[in-house]
Amino acid sequence: MTCCETSKEKRDGLLFLDTAKLSEIEKYLKLGLLDGVTTNPTIMKKDGVVGGFSAIRGRTIEIAKMIYPRPLSVETASPEGNKEELLDQAREFSSWGTNINVKVTFTTQKGEPNTDVIAQLTKEKISVNATAMMSISQCFLAAKTGAEYVSIFLGRVANMGYDPSEETRKLRKLLDRTGLPAKIIAASSREAFNVIEWFMAGAHIVTVTPDLLKPCIDHPYTRETVAMFDGDAANWLQEWRDSVI
Ligand code: E4P
Repeated sequence: MTCCETSKEKRDGLLFLDTAKLSEIEKYLKLGLLDGVTTNPTIMKKDGVVGGFSAIRGRTIEIAKMIYPRPLSVETASPEGNKEELLDQAREFSSWGTNINVKVTFTTQKGEPNTDVIAQLTKEKISVNATAMMSISQCFLAAKTGAEYVSIFLGRVANMGYDPSEETRKLRKLLDRTGLPAKIIAASSREAFNVIEWFMAGAHIVTVTPDLLKPCIDHPYTRETVAMFDGDAANWLQEWRDSVI
């Protein structure tokens, strides 16, 4: 099963985890809450994957196996904007697992477009997650060149003074209208509320750090209510436990 086949089965309402921490991935996988994982060089470094290229390869393969057939994004890098280097990295990363998709920044740090890289990888049937995008125009162009995922960094968009939900609504409308099959990854989440807010706005996928997922789950009033149910079940629970021994 390829990465693309897997992700096309279910296209909307998907929750990805923005982490390279195996313990967090395992936890949310077991909880049935994880649809995929996104990483980037900063996440890898922050999460302790610092042993050079072999460490990146090792952790990537480990995560890919752990979450299979769910997709995993791994990011390419070339500070000089060397296209051949990006292509070679992408080919190598994608060979590590059929559920791996390759992140390519939409432009280089000097603003040169990487749309040719995205188009070439798409031609080679390598799934691309076009990343570090801050505008609908960038996402639209990445989708046009064949990116399977378009990652818009909505937390950063908000920091620039734009309404992230409004941008997402427009982007979703544009993709639906043009029939481009790219899936919107709402990235760069900053608050727990972003998950619902961005799904409601039209993101197919929201990627969150494990820290932001915790407040989406735990609620003091839920705890209190469960304690009430547990207390009132006391009159039959012991009898049931004795009966199943
Ligand atoms: C995910 O794909 C992105 O790389 C990530 O959400 C970026 O988050 P940041 O804006 O906190 O760096």
